[in-house]
Amino acid sequence: MNLFLTGGAGYVGSACLRHLLKNGHNAIAYDNLIEGNRGSVPGGRLVVGDIADVDAMADCMRSERIDAVLHFAAAASVPESIKNPEFYYRSNVLGTKGVLDAMRRSGVRRIIFSSTAATYGFHARMPMTEDAPQTPQVPYGSTKLAAEWLIKDYAKAYGMGYTIFRYFNASGADIDGEHGEDRRDESHLIPLALAVAVGRRPRLLIFGDDFETQDGTCVRDYIHVDDLAQAHELAVESLEPGMGRAFNLGSGTGVTVLEVLRACEEAVGFPINHEIVDRRPGDPGVLIACPQRAMRQLGWSPRYTDIRQIVGSAWRWRRTHPDGYREPAEPAIEVDALYAGR
Ligand code: UFG
Repeated sequence: MNLFLTGGAGYVGSACLRHLLKNGHNAIAYDNLIEGNRGSVPGGRLVVGDIADVDAMADCMRSERIDAVLHFAAAASVPESIKNPEFYYRSNVLGTKGVLDAMRRSGVRRIIFSSTAATYGFHARMPMTEDAPQTPQVPYGSTKLAAEWLIKDYAKAYGMGYTIFRYFNASGADIDGEHGEDRRDESHLIPLALAVAVGRRPRLLIFGDDFETQDGTCVRDYIHVDDLAQAHELAVESLEPGMGRAFNLGSGTGVTVLEVLRACEEAVGFPINHEIVDRRPGDPGVLIACPQRAMRQLGWSPRYTDIRQIVGSAWRWRRTHPDGYREPAEPAIEVDALYAGR
């Protein structure tokens, strides 16, 4: 199929792009490169543009004879969304409307959308099924839920088909070690812990140890980015106009922040400097997916369910790319020298 991936140079988008290309699809990334990385997209597969530009997207969809859109482009940090909701509504709600309008204009009738566990309420029963109440507690979740509504209403009125994926904690790096997680302004646990390990940050802050969990730190469901990519491939191959479905994508297993830290220390082979601080606003204590619906209906099955495999893959990439995709601002410390003596 001919596929158009908004945000295709981002962390999850580029992993899906490479996976789809490897599996015989013809796919292009459309990305404004504000958060995305040119280096994460195979040559000749990137169109630089913004999802606010409906004309550019519609032209591209028509000229590339696109069959389906995979809409990854979004602003995706819970803490940032609390500080700057305007940007989140613009990017995630108006941006999604722009993508849908470009699809209408160019006659594309299939969309796969990256939504989030943050669209659910804080107190749902765990593991969380797709029927749990969607009562988001942070602007990031509200904007993604509003985008889900837009997609459902457009699909009904204009004969589109959709698959909504609600990701839990996307994590890990390509198993081949060539691509990984790298944002301009990082807020996620695993890349931050590994940034401390490569000497790019002084310490990891652990946000709260007074939650009602086994060790007091938050429990999350970490799902490997290659497993997410596999789910997108299965969805692309089975989605038809008129169809509407939503799936949780998680491993079904909860891991605490301290357990993630231990897995990171095991991977790098030395202690990672950290400090326990106050809770971060907007963090629920526990988030665990029930992934049964995706397993049953898509035939999906996550392969990397052990946090040590996930962290190990992230480390293989980070240790060889201490500055991520960017040129280092100052001469990089040799990674091997950094580990000498530890
Ligand atoms: N954490 C720290 N220190 C850090 C960063 C994170 O202790 O420096 C903790 C957080 O408090 C949280 C856990 O590590 O308990 C994971 O945090 P991330 O920022 O990596 O991810 P989130 O759990 O905030 O985000 C995820 C998904 C979102 C989803 C959100 C719902 O990435 O899609 O959960 O809260 F919306």
